[in-house]
Amino acid sequence: MENRMTEKKDHSEYFERLKAAHVAALWTIPGTLAEEPTLDEVPHVWKAKEIFPLLHEAVDVVDLGDDADRRALNASNPKRVFGTSHNLVAGYQLVLPGETAPAHRHTPSAIRLLLEGSGHTTVDGEPVLMEPGDLVLTPPMTWHDHRHEGDTPMIWLDGLDVPFVRGQHAQFAEEYPNEALQDLTEAEDVSVARYGAGMIPAERTWTKNHSPLNKYPYKTSKESLLRFHESEGRPSTGSSMEYVNPITGGPVIPTITCFLSVQEAGTKSRAYRHTPSKVFCVLEGSGYSIINGERYDWEKHDFFVVPSWHWYEHHANEGEDAVLFSMSDRPIYEPFGLLREQTADAVPAAKN
Ligand SMILES: [Fe+2]
Repeated sequence: MENRMTEKKDHSEYFERLKAAHVAALWTIPGTLAEEPTLDEVPHVWKAKEIFPLLHEAVDVVDLGDDADRRALNASNPKRVFGTSHNLVAGYQLVLPGETAPAHRHTPSAIRLLLEGSGHTTVDGEPVLMEPGDLVLTPPMTWHDHRHEGDTPMIWLDGLDVPFVRGQHAQFAEEYPNEALQDLTEAEDVSVARYGAGMIPAERTWTKNHSPLNKYPYKTSKESLLRFHESEGRPSTGSSMEYVNPITGGPVIPTITCFLSVQEAGTKSRAYRHTPSKVFCVLEGSGYSIINGERYDWEKHDFFVVPSWHWYEHHANEGEDAVLFSMSDRPIYEPFGLLREQTADAVPAAKN
């Protein structure tokens, strides 16, 4: 009887020829039909107590204007070469009294959250006064520069979509003529006067795809959040509000949406997971987050990343309510049907 057992052939020479032809055998590539996302990012907390001194030390390393346009330290996820998450990059930036950072513009969008000091960012000719907790926008291709007339160092959180834009091969940037500060063509905070009270000018002239507001003042945002929290009966799971474009009700800029949340002292939030990544910055209070079963402690001005599809919940320490700012790449997911979200009372126990 004929032996029908087939001998295992050696196909290595075949695979060498595939490699030379720049093709790969799909059946050998792991994860091509993975049931859940494969991630190149992990949760991490950047501590203000550790990074602020490094930022101040940078004053001896780099002069604003001569050596660099910006004195900023970007947060790279421990599993990535660049990017706090796969779409977002966050970091701290320092401007000293009397310093200026010249105008430029670029296709990546940026948000800023002022943490210490005060000063001005000029956005397309409008000088925007930045005070602690204020959210300031520099949407794609808006001219922006920074000037600091105060007497204490000014530090803010930067948040940009550079990893996403680079991934689309769409990063462009331009220096302002003569690397100068731009002309002030608008009154201070004029966009807040025009669009900042739940009303818009009756003669609608705004046609851009981002919010016409260059600033969301913390005083207004926090007051609104706390009144909402009170009106909901001060839920122990906390309350959260989204910053919106007053024209559309959509995100403040096309790729990034921002939130402000309050968690009362000694309470915990519900648990969430979603495909967008999220960067949280602590504006008030202290506490910790459970992210996929691990504990990450945080205090004022720390920021931390929750990667895609990670369960997380926040706990505020006793003594002071926690106020968390967050930014998310969620608007990138929605148009393509890629947004998945789940909630639970608590972070589920990790599967073994
Ligand atoms: Fe910039």
